[in-house]
Amino acid sequence: MNEDAQKLAAAQAAVDYIKDGMVVGLGTGSTAAKMVDLVGARVKDGLDIVAVPTSEATAAQAKGLGIKVVGLDEVSVIDLTIDGTDEVDPEMRLIKGGGGAHLREKIVASLSDQLIIIAENKKMVDTLGAFKLPVEVVPFAAGALLPKMEALGSEPAIRQKDGDNFYTDEGNLIIDCAFGAIDNPEELAITLSTMAGVVEHGLFINFADMVLVGTETGVKKFEA
Ligand code: A5P
Repeated sequence: MNEDAQKLAAAQAAVDYIKDGMVVGLGTGSTAAKMVDLVGARVKDGLDIVAVPTSEATAAQAKGLGIKVVGLDEVSVIDLTIDGTDEVDPEMRLIKGGGGAHLREKIVASLSDQLIIIAENKKMVDTLGAFKLPVEVVPFAAGALLPKMEALGSEPAIRQKDGDNFYTDEGNLIIDCAFGAIDNPEELAITLSTMAGVVEHGLFINFADMVLVGTETGVKKFEA
């Protein structure tokens, strides 16, 4: 199975957990996009759900597929959210935000009864940190936060797209922090969360209830 097929297999396995009547959180990224396509196909076949998207891109995709999209003010609970990841370690800790959507993703995940993470095999790592940790910051603070991220031991850079700063759906900037191996993700998460100007970091600790990983030999399931 190539990487695309692994993503699709994981997405298919996750979509099987969606039942009629659920409020479903829809993640962001290339793996989540495959999942949204599969949800759209099931909706076409009669599945009755409403969905809370984690980005404008996912909202547009879902609406295009005929999935009923609602905002957080319209639901009291999210039954199940399915989302991708950039890295997942053996303790099911994640780095997310490669697509710049981790702020909304974390909000939706935190309001969800269950979070299923879907990924291809290469996203499984022994230690988090080879992927640059995305940290969403308010634009006003970005310049001042760069040396602070450096002081934490990373090589920080403001994310660029098409030769310009990349802005998130919430109008913020992202500082991608190359830490290398992150020895203590819990400690780093707390440190980042307490820095003025940081809106949200991409460490998801104690969020995933299940991880479905597409591999050469099929989908592997990990549960918290
Ligand atoms: C979006 O901001 C991210 O958190 C994605 O979930 C993550 O980047 C995974 O994306 P891919 O499925 O495209 O690898």
